Amino acid sequence: MSIAPTETGNKPVSKGQFISFEGLDGAGKTTQLALLQRWLEQQRISYVLTREPGGTPLGSELRHLLFGRSDLAISPLAEAFLFQADRAQHFADVIVPAIEAGKLVISDRCYDSSIAYQGAAQGVGIELVEQLSLIATAGRSPDLTILLDLAPSQVHVRTHDETRGEHSRFDAESLSFHQRLREAFLALAQNHPERIKVIDATQTPEQIHHQIIALIQALRA
Ligand code: TMP
Repeated sequence: MSIAPTETGNKPVSKGQFISFEGLDGAGKTTQLALLQRWLEQQRISYVLTREPGGTPLGSELRHLLFGRSDLAISPLAEAFLFQADRAQHFADVIVPAIEAGKLVISDRCYDSSIAYQGAAQGVGIELVEQLSLIATAGRSPDLTILLDLAPSQVHVRTHDETRGEHSRFDAESLSFHQRLREAFLALAQNHPERIKVIDATQTPEQIHHQIIALIQALRA
């Protein structure tokens, strides 16, 4: 499925800001992004909603390669490069131009996912993936990253209950794989407390939504 970046609203923010959403598959990002989108429209805030991988035409092709071709062998290192190729195009064509146009840019995942999934859980190495991310983004970082944190046992329940057309490469991975992922995300949050804010994703969608709104309002104040 290819989703073009969604752009709407007519009240420009004074300075473009960039927010990413992170978390394990099944942590509730999709629900929260839909609630946030509705709130931004009510507030008439101009925003761009996009995602990694898949926020550009090249990204859609890469997403298909990564998630739609189970017949294709892709090594963890090759996979790491494919996500970074998606990111390089995404930053150049979508994220940086939108920030420079004064928009609020919201990305469903960014390089923290590469660090957690490829760097930590897939074993490519955190430092190597951090270096690749630095190159792909030209050093640009989200102003705020919202990490929806959930125990892997809960994530498994949610992921397998979901009826969606596309499955992550990692749905079938073991509980320990998802535990490594969660630990990597939490370690990132600990190392970047000013940027990455952790939200307990076992709360109700409404409670989580209100915490997200508060973080965004604080960022824009
Ligand atoms: P999602 O779009 O449903 O969140 O799924 C994207 C999947 O890709 C998810 O399993 C996380 C994974 N992913 C990586 O492994 N590395 C990355 O750099 C990104 C952006 C996503």
